[in-house]
Amino acid sequence: MPAPQILPSILAAHPGRLEEACQRAEAAGADGLHLDVMDGHFVPNISMGPSVVRMARESLRIPLNVHLMITNPDEMAEAFLDAGSDTLLIHVEARCDPIPVLESIRARGRAAGITLNPETPAESVEPLLDYVDEVLCMTVHPGFGGQAFLRNVLPKIALIRSWRPDVNISVDGGIDLESATWAAREGANVIVAGTSLFRAADMAADITEMRERVAAVQPAAVGRTRS
Ligand code: DX5
Ligand code: ZN
Repeated sequence: MPAPQILPSILAAHPGRLEEACQRAEAAGADGLHLDVMDGHFVPNISMGPSVVRMARESLRIPLNVHLMITNPDEMAEAFLDAGSDTLLIHVEARCDPIPVLESIRARGRAAGITLNPETPAESVEPLLDYVDEVLCMTVHPGFGGQAFLRNVLPKIALIRSWRPDVNISVDGGIDLESATWAAREGANVIVAGTSLFRAADMAADITEMRERVAAVQPAAVGRTRS
């Protein structure tokens, strides 16, 4: 079972103080930073582009986990790799053939990830699992922070974990100390949290507690071998 990682999402930070927010997350002991890229087409919102990823890369030492909520990741992946993404996640629902994009991410020595919307079945990513280092299960409908965690995603996490004990499984959306524990119990080890961590009175204490709670409930690494 891969180690727990807690990733604050800077979508929840004040847009006028992004660099300060990145540094606050690093100083609070985050294992990495999650950055949400939205194109106004794949999701009904627009957020940040490669220049924000580059700012974070120049400002931080921790890894950057970049979540592309865009229709054409095949056309934009290169720019986000150039900007310094350590993990680049695309959506399985995007309008492109995912395998060449995932291969191009790994060819540059970065980690590749595939993301599923809440209603997308686990089976849609099963043929891609040999091409990825991370599977991100959205636990809200993507596009906005501050939404409620969707508990009906939990069985999908368990199913993907049963297929692959080795891969990073992340969850994103509506995560707080309680929902992080629910997801970790099913096998999620990478926890993305925006609102709950950036609104916390003591972000460092919450990151530590979240990591400890995730470690305490992680299932044993006994998933079945794929045939
Ligand atoms: C939602 C984004 C999330 C978002 C999570 O589309 O992918 O990363 O920042 O925010 P919270 O934790 O507030 O739900
Ligand atoms: Zn995200």
